[in-house]
Amino acid sequence: MSSRVIPIADYRQLESLPAIPMDASPPSGLLADTRGRRLHDLRISVTDRCNFRCTYCMPKTVFDKSYQFLPHSEVLSFEEITRLARLFVAHGTEKIRLTGGEPLLRKNIEALIEMLSDLRTPAGDAIDLTLTTNASLLPKKAHSLKAAGLKRLTVSLDSLDDAVFRAMNDVDFPVARVLDGIAAAEDAGFGPVKINMVVKRGLNDDGIADMARHFKGSGHIVRFIEFMDVGSSNGWRMRDVVPSEEVVERISRFAPLEPIDPNYNGEVAERWRYTDGSGEIGVISSVTQAFCSTCTRARLSVEGKLYTCLFAHAGHDLRALMQLGHTDEDIAAAIALIWERRDDRYSEVRTAATAREKKIEMSYIGG
Ligand code: GTP
Ligand code: 5AD
Ligand code: SF4
Ligand code: SF4
Repeated sequence: MSSRVIPIADYRQLESLPAIPMDASPPSGLLADTRGRRLHDLRISVTDRCNFRCTYCMPKTVFDKSYQFLPHSEVLSFEEITRLARLFVAHGTEKIRLTGGEPLLRKNIEALIEMLSDLRTPAGDAIDLTLTTNASLLPKKAHSLKAAGLKRLTVSLDSLDDAVFRAMNDVDFPVARVLDGIAAAEDAGFGPVKINMVVKRGLNDDGIADMARHFKGSGHIVRFIEFMDVGSSNGWRMRDVVPSEEVVERISRFAPLEPIDPNYNGEVAERWRYTDGSGEIGVISSVTQAFCSTCTRARLSVEGKLYTCLFAHAGHDLRALMQLGHTDEDIAAAIALIWERRDDRYSEVRTAATAREKKIEMSYIGG
């Protein structure tokens, strides 16, 4: 292996990306990018496969029988994921979210959760370990996920109307089974679950009020997400986006809302609480009110590429560094170099032309 080791100074040769400045960087320590944003969250995609075919994410026209998912040999092992995650945590990452595809399809995901839940920040604290799922496997797995050390869960659910939901997931999956999954999460002790509803005009927006009413008073928090131009296959059009302002206005008509402070600086969702004290909702306005200026999220793809934006065109191949035998110090230095030169702010500068450009798919990089 050692004969194949390339010096870290040649890291840029691994990707056809603009040259990375090769000044010395510490292997650990807090990082800031060119806009002063910290590296606070790491989102790890553990599989590019999913048992749903949500029309806004993995449309069947593209993700059909002939679609080539990554072969197992290309997928990061749990040991590789944990090794990289440890280096991110040394650099100040405090939150890790497992995504997909559908992360619960990854065999024995509980073992990975156990490994990640052992990580400690430089201050000695456990990390905030969470996962986004379509809930189809939660009735089977909620308890084992909790036992493995998962702290929180986010469930994707786009409609409570069974016909609309079946049409949106496009595999005829009934809404009742997602509700069973949420109940199983509660039963396993996950407490409040976050529920993500992607809102698309003319498709499910007439279900906004139903969704809010159903979970009002339950302790769970619904977040209404503006349909985004992520990837290149979901046929995004601006006219299909329902602005968050309209969502808040529609809910306020039957249940008055007031804004509340974010839980932490850079929180993606804007929080609103019911004035009658029966809970809160969130709106995620990535199209109409971009939040790039506080974006502290890095994304690790299924085969170990580091992306510094959801809308990036290319990633940095960290797996190659591991396979070439680089040390933890080298890889930590590469992560630092990548983050310190980061300048991404796609949603702030989106135009009709950039929305049409070829980008990586959400199912590959994670939600
Ligand atoms: P908490 O840790 O519970 O606060 O979750 P979160 O705010 O990180 O939210 P979550 O990971 O559930 O993300 C919700 C949705 O927001 C995602 O599915 C995406 O649609 C969108 N989103 C999250 N991060 C980004 C981002 O960096 N950029 C953009 N444009 N959208 C994002
Ligand atoms: N726009 C907004 N959110 C999306 N997601 C997937 N595709 C899109 C899109 N086009 C999010 C959903 C889901 C998570 C896995 O990714 O919120 O909950
Ligand atoms: Fe699967 Fe989630 Fe994408 Fe739907 S949104 S296809 S459940 S990864
Ligand atoms: Fe962050 Fe890119 Fe999303 Fe902006 S568009 S919030 S930079 S991931």
